[in-house]
Amino acid sequence: MAEESAPRPTILVVDDNEQNRALAKATLESEDYSVVLASSGADALAAFEGALPDCVLLDVRMPGMNGFEVCAKIRTLPQGADTPIVFLTALRDVDTFDAALRSGGDDFLTKPVRPTELILRVQAALRLRRLNASNREYYELARRQRDDLIRLQLQKERLIAFVVHDLKNPVGNVDLHAQVLLRDKELPDRLRGSVASIRDEVRSLMRLITNLLDISKSEEGKLTPARASVDLAALIAECFEALGVAAKSRNITFETTSGVVRAVADPDLLRRVLENLLDNALRHAPDDSVVRVHGVARDREVELRVSDEGRGVSPEMRERIFDPFVQVESKDRSVSRSGRGLGLAFCRLAVEAHGGRIWVEDASPGAVFCVRLPNDE
Ligand SMILES: Nc1ncnc2c1ncn2[C@@H]1O[C@H](COP(=O)(O)OP(=O)(O)OP(=O)(O)O)[C@@H](O)[C@H]1O
Ligand SMILES: [Mg+2]
Repeated sequence: MAEESAPRPTILVVDDNEQNRALAKATLESEDYSVVLASSGADALAAFEGALPDCVLLDVRMPGMNGFEVCAKIRTLPQGADTPIVFLTALRDVDTFDAALRSGGDDFLTKPVRPTELILRVQAALRLRRLNASNREYYELARRQRDDLIRLQLQKERLIAFVVHDLKNPVGNVDLHAQVLLRDKELPDRLRGSVASIRDEVRSLMRLITNLLDISKSEEGKLTPARASVDLAALIAECFEALGVAAKSRNITFETTSGVVRAVADPDLLRRVLENLLDNALRHAPDDSVVRVHGVARDREVELRVSDEGRGVSPEMRERIFDPFVQVESKDRSVSRSGRGLGLAFCRLAVEAHGGRIWVEDASPGAVFCVRLPNDE
């Protein structure tokens, strides 16, 4: 067969986005594949008949004919029946997955696609073409099992997204009621502490929920900051207030020196970034110490620095702690481990969505978390 004698397999890349096409082309050519590009469904069908590729990488969402329609049409072409087709899609959900399989696709990759992953999937797809009949039977069996697993995984992700989303309102209401109670002058002092703790715990639950929601939004490419001019001093004061109970219970003092007055950012996202950083600082700061927020304006940029006097972050962990679910084991039992390792992952996504950067420096003793944002009006 042609692909066995051809030294350079040909890959047809179909995507309406020019940047995506260029990236896939560069990646595949670096592995010595020959690449044919198409920017629409109609182009793809013509290119398929002209080039008879060994594998097709197919974008789902395209104006005119979408990826599913293109795939179904390729399957009716002579030579199109068993050419591996790999879908590339930004939509990671069970309906898209099922539609991809129904239209005759072999594999399903969610964007953004890492170059190494793309190469591995293309290699797997090409090997598939060379299977003989009995191996193909085994493959079909394994594939059905794999598809069931992917479907289950996607359903689980959808369920989690629903649960997290539906928790937001009731948890917000608990917080509101706690605030009402706290404002009531007739609330006996012996209960005031308990209500303040309820509020504190609820806020931390709310932080977890919103972090999770925004992380999944970002995975879907939907975390877009609504920029406005933000009064930094007021924002910092608001965060200090939100975490006041926790700080007071351990006699930790908040201090701020803010040389910058305004930042151009999404007020809600920036407040939650700062709240997460302060929450971490509080968790790691020793009792009776000071947690500081320092704001500095650099040319066309603004930098926020949150520092504590805790144990700091070791050099080998300074990148990794921004990955989801990464937590550093602490020998110090007093450091609360109730978190989930999502705070900094959210912070990085939110800061990067603003075109900014976040990193941690050593303050010996302690850590300084730095957020730098572009500050153009
Ligand atoms: N100020 C700090 N000092 C020392 N280590 C820190 C500090 N902030 C974060 N870390 C380390 O980075 C890890 C990740 O932080 P992150 O905020 O992502 O998760 P978490 O605080 O453990 O949980 P969550 O924020 O989801 O409630 C922490 O578990 C901790 O080990
Ligand atoms: Mg945290």
